[in-house]
Amino acid sequence: MRVVQASVFIGIFLAVVSSFGQNASRRAEPPFKPVAAVGDIMRGIVDPLSCAVFASVGTVSSAEGIKEIAPESDKEWERIRAAAMGVAEAGNLLMFDIRSRDRQPSWMEMSKLLVERAVVAANAAAARNADELFDAGSELFAVCESCHSQHMPYDKWILWRTPKRISPSINSSEVCR
Ligand code: HEC
Repeated sequence: MRVVQASVFIGIFLAVVSSFGQNASRRAEPPFKPVAAVGDIMRGIVDPLSCAVFASVGTVSSAEGIKEIAPESDKEWERIRAAAMGVAEAGNLLMFDIRSRDRQPSWMEMSKLLVERAVVAANAAAARNADELFDAGSELFAVCESCHSQHMPYDKWILWRTPKRISPSINSSEVCR
């Protein structure tokens, strides 16, 4: 008899727990509605924010000669850190099914790398470390390049590869038009 009672009790308990679970998962479902195309995310988020990161540190050559630059105030460092975090979060947007569907597994891999390397850049800015920020910028740029070489339409890719884009180390305001 006790065994029966116990199993009835366990049965009720499990039913209650699982209904809680269902409710919880229904409630937890966020109302995501992806609206931007990959090109929009690139031009609207990834490009301007990553450009701010690339252009913040490195060497600038001008008529006066070659000059090393880096963020100079707390406000400036914070702006760069936040820009890098924006790039990182955009990497997550690229992983949405609607944008990653029908692509090779490398799409997910490179979106993940975009998140990770942008966070490294953000941490370098948080630490006010110009050398680390420069290196993180180069690593970040390498992810843009590898994804584009595989997934960007060829005509766009050719334009993307024009010399002023090739290295973030050759710094100029033109890079971030
Ligand atoms: C996971 C893949 C992926 C990563 C990572 C990526 N891109 Fe892109 N990007 C694309 C694709 C695909 C397109 C083409 C979109 C289209 O036009 O449909 C594109 C387009 C662009 C464009 C628009 C080009 C044009 O002429 O319209 C810019 C600018 C751009 N990317 C910048 C960047 C930068 C800067 C980074 C790195 C910080 C980056 N992208 C990282 C996939 C990626």
